[in-house]
Amino acid sequence: MLILGIETSCDETGVALYDLASGGLLAHTVHSQVAMHEAYGGVVPELASRDHVRRLIPLCRGLLRDTGRSSAELGAVAYTEGPGLIGALLVGAAFARGVAFALGVPAIGIHHLEGHLLSPLLAKRAPQFPFVALLVSGGHTQLMRVEGVARYALLGETQDDAAGEAFDKTAKLLGLGYPGGPALSQLAESGTPGRYRLPRPMIGSGDLEFSFSGLKTAVLHLVRGVDPSAQFQADIARAFQDAIVEVLATKCTQALNQTGLTQLVVAGGVGANRQLRALLDAQASKHGYDVFYPEPELCTDNGAMIAFAAALRLRAGARTVPRDAHGFSVRPRWALASLEAI
Ligand code: KG4
Ligand code: ZN
Repeated sequence: MLILGIETSCDETGVALYDLASGGLLAHTVHSQVAMHEAYGGVVPELASRDHVRRLIPLCRGLLRDTGRSSAELGAVAYTEGPGLIGALLVGAAFARGVAFALGVPAIGIHHLEGHLLSPLLAKRAPQFPFVALLVSGGHTQLMRVEGVARYALLGETQDDAAGEAFDKTAKLLGLGYPGGPALSQLAESGTPGRYRLPRPMIGSGDLEFSFSGLKTAVLHLVRGVDPSAQFQADIARAFQDAIVEVLATKCTQALNQTGLTQLVVAGGVGANRQLRALLDAQASKHGYDVFYPEPELCTDNGAMIAFAAALRLRAGARTVPRDAHGFSVRPRWALASLEAI
């Protein structure tokens, strides 16, 4: 049985085919809207929704064509039910539910962060339950204790900006465009370590909470009124990345100590950050724990993680949307820890 996965929570249209029988991802495709939103310096929700409408059918047709499969082989359609932009979510949900209804197969709504959190299980080197997960994306920064599928407990989260948001806002201050995270991280590689020092917010708070909004303000104070040279920009980028990465890695170690667990899973767009990975790997060998990452192409938003989360839920006996149910809703705001056990 094949599961079609649909992701449309923000500015990427992701589709994927997962084979439940063989337990394998057959293919996935992502269309990024970055080029379209770039001119506006951020995601324009209405444009995002309209573009998802344009992309979904050709992407799904391409997926079936490239894998040599037909829609008759689909056994379920999974889609991102939330959290995310309401219009973008509605496009994916309407499409997925329409396809499921037309084919007479069940649909299943998936929590976007559950998709991210389980995506390292798709990698060749995969963790075993239970583990600690660091979710670091554009909208979220959370540490979770993961006992199994749909069994998530929140250990701590950001009080203000998410880590990815802090990257993006700081990149904007440095004139790096949108989304600035990857560009800022690349620039930081040519920065001089220690040339500037920024605060490590809440690093000694003793709990697993984060706060990143002060970092961009600290950067603003440094760059205001300065006509920046390329090296100055790189040094600031490095100072910013050093600070954020040190806070994230320190709290991960604390979370592992606090829970007594020995496996850490890193998920979400910021999980692609090379310096974060290097520090976590170094801490892991120092403290004797294991770190797991999704395959690089599955770090940012994609349909594969949605199809895969659906596969794990279906295997665990999760309920699907009844075939004759016509109404549907999405959840722009939805706490991961509120998911009910299956
Ligand atoms: O998980 P994701 O694709 O979308 C959300 O659900 O938010 O994460 C996107 C976020 C953006 O803020 C982006 O700037 C950040 O991840 N990001 C990075 C890197 N690659 C993506 N931040 C730092 N370093 C990177 N290499
Ligand atoms: Zn995401």
